[in-house]
Amino acid sequence: MRLLTSVAALRCYLRSSRTQNPDNLVGLVPTMGGLHLGHLSLIQRAKAETSGVVVTIFVNPLQFGPNEDFQKYPRALEADLQQCEQAGVDVVFAPSIEEMYQSSMQTMVIPPGSMMSGLCGGSRPGHFQGVATVVTKLLNLVQPDRAYFGQKDAQQVAIIQRLVQDLNWPIEIISCPIVRESSGLAYSSRNQYLTTSEQQQATVLYRALLRGQERFNKGFHTATEIKQIVQTELDTEPGVQVEYIELVEPNSLIPLTTIETTGLLAIAARVGKTRLIDNLILRHR
Ligand code: PAJ
Repeated sequence: MRLLTSVAALRCYLRSSRTQNPDNLVGLVPTMGGLHLGHLSLIQRAKAETSGVVVTIFVNPLQFGPNEDFQKYPRALEADLQQCEQAGVDVVFAPSIEEMYQSSMQTMVIPPGSMMSGLCGGSRPGHFQGVATVVTKLLNLVQPDRAYFGQKDAQQVAIIQRLVQDLNWPIEIISCPIVRESSGLAYSSRNQYLTTSEQQQATVLYRALLRGQERFNKGFHTATEIKQIVQTELDTEPGVQVEYIELVEPNSLIPLTTIETTGLLAIAARVGKTRLIDNLILRHR
């Protein structure tokens, strides 16, 4: 496995590997490191479906707000590299901030306002611009055939699908299922911030989503009915502060009043000081 930290070295490697194996598909897995089983599921999928897997590890300052956790975000390059090596990754690209954003960097990629205004966009202004900008740079640098993202960040993956479609990139965006601990808690690099008792409290997020799903399966299809039961379950944990419970169309992210075909039920909540998100797709059978 190669560790590359400069754009020039990455380009050089990709050029020569494409010359040697012109028919190989290249898969890209963008991450901010602090790798866990959620990230590894993306890597495994990329490994199964392509012949050259590039993992990027870059804690992107552009997507953090001024009062967010950029400084304390988990950074564990050595452990990440070991996991990538074991998973059979071909290249890890881990650039410095200076390498990614030279002083001349002024262009930002702005996703559609309608996709950024709801869900996490409300409390994280600028976040999805930062994500779209760094993902655009990574897609341009690597020029993969497929890029793998987690359904865990459902708004992110919907915005990236739209970005790739609008900019005519010949790249398939693959959305991979959410990987959970046995408690139901979705893996997240931010779970490291949770105390043992907070980890326990945080399991209410998935339980609440499952209550919403149960209600939907019993024939209650309106947003009001579904969101109410989710709220009731979340209220059983007083340590959990709900930021939003939303029901939206999964691709456009437009709020739904009733689920006609498919709905994305999404939650954001604070457990102690840690902000967590989770979601579930509700689909008519
Ligand atoms: P990061 O939070 O490191 O996540 C990298 C990828 O792993 C994302 O596509 C995310 O959705 C996926 N992922 C995280 N937890 C998951 C889980 N429990 N199950 C399945 N997939 C999971 O998302 C980012 O980084 C950044 O915004 C990035 C796209 C790299 C741009 O900076």
